[in-house]
Amino acid sequence: AGQPLVLGIESSCDETGVGIVSGHTLLANEVASSVEQHVRFGGVVPEVASRAHLQALVPAVRRACAKADVDLSELDAISVTAGPGLMGALVVGLAGAKALAAALGKPLYGLNHLAGHVAVDLLDHGPLPTPCVALLVSGGHTSLLRVGDIATDITEIGSTIDDAAGEAYDKVARVLGLSYPGGPVIDRVAADGDPRAIRFPRGLTSPRDLERHRFDFSFSGLKTAVARWVETCQREGREVPLADVAASFQEAVCDVLSAKAVEACAHVGADHLLVGGGVAANSRLRALLAERAAAAGITLRTPRPALCTDNGAMMAVLGVEVVKAGGRPSPSDLGADSGLPV
Ligand code: KG4
Ligand code: ZN
Repeated sequence: AGQPLVLGIESSCDETGVGIVSGHTLLANEVASSVEQHVRFGGVVPEVASRAHLQALVPAVRRACAKADVDLSELDAISVTAGPGLMGALVVGLAGAKALAAALGKPLYGLNHLAGHVAVDLLDHGPLPTPCVALLVSGGHTSLLRVGDIATDITEIGSTIDDAAGEAYDKVARVLGLSYPGGPVIDRVAADGDPRAIRFPRGLTSPRDLERHRFDFSFSGLKTAVARWVETCQREGREVPLADVAASFQEAVCDVLSAKAVEACAHVGADHLLVGGGVAANSRLRALLAERAAAAGITLRTPRPALCTDNGAMMAVLGVEVVKAGGRPSPSDLGADSGLPV
């Protein structure tokens, strides 16, 4: 009896995550990343990620059980990311989760990755006042969500129409000759630069764009603008002022993300804003959000960094919420959906 004990599996991108959660208590969160295998390509290579998941999954399940001091037979349910994400990566986690659930005779819940990023905050900050807004920013997704109820009522009110925010960081880092993943490096380099040195474009903020894309984002024009600026420097034989370019690029990204997130709160009638995903670690995004949320009377919630990036515990705690809400287990022929809507 008591709180549901759920093992969650996440494999939508380059992290193989296995987490075990009892209620809102985190018991284990084993993450194996294949990021080093993607460095020389400057981005996640799906085939490479799939193979790494296949190798990492079963050992991660073993480690998680050992760490949580839980026997698989004690679990109430298995939850797993059914999408969105890379198809070849998703199917590995899903196949593993199905095999476990079938062998153990436990219910299986195929769940949404973005909802997992929202639910994981319960582990750090407890029940979430609703409705609230979630800003999810990573290498694979950039979304604004309205959260009415974590288990049953999440809707997307905006998303990127081209590159994800983290993807923009990674691509701009490449243009600047910096290493992958680009986010942490640009964050560091930008600290010595002037964010107002160059006025880079803020995507989808013109009055005309706002009519159709009030809560959407676009970062590919920004990326191109940075590339052009660097090319011009090089053509004219000038040294690229790396810190100023990094700081100005970062300002353009974080200005739009924070402005639209705070505005979404007013739109939804929310006084809590949850921020998740790898880019939530960004120092400028945190500072701007803190400033603008405070000015608007909004409370920020950000899970600890290890829970912001992809992991298994996020799917486990989402599983707990779905079990508590009386959600139905998934059928045994459940498929992965790379574009699964929330
Ligand atoms: O959530 P995550 O670990 O994986 C997924 O993409 O799902 O996010 C990784 C992304 C990468 O694009 C990385 O460059 C970015 O998060 N990132 C950052 C920072 N730390 C990681 N972006 C900006 N500033 C950071 N400090
Ligand atoms: Zn993610």
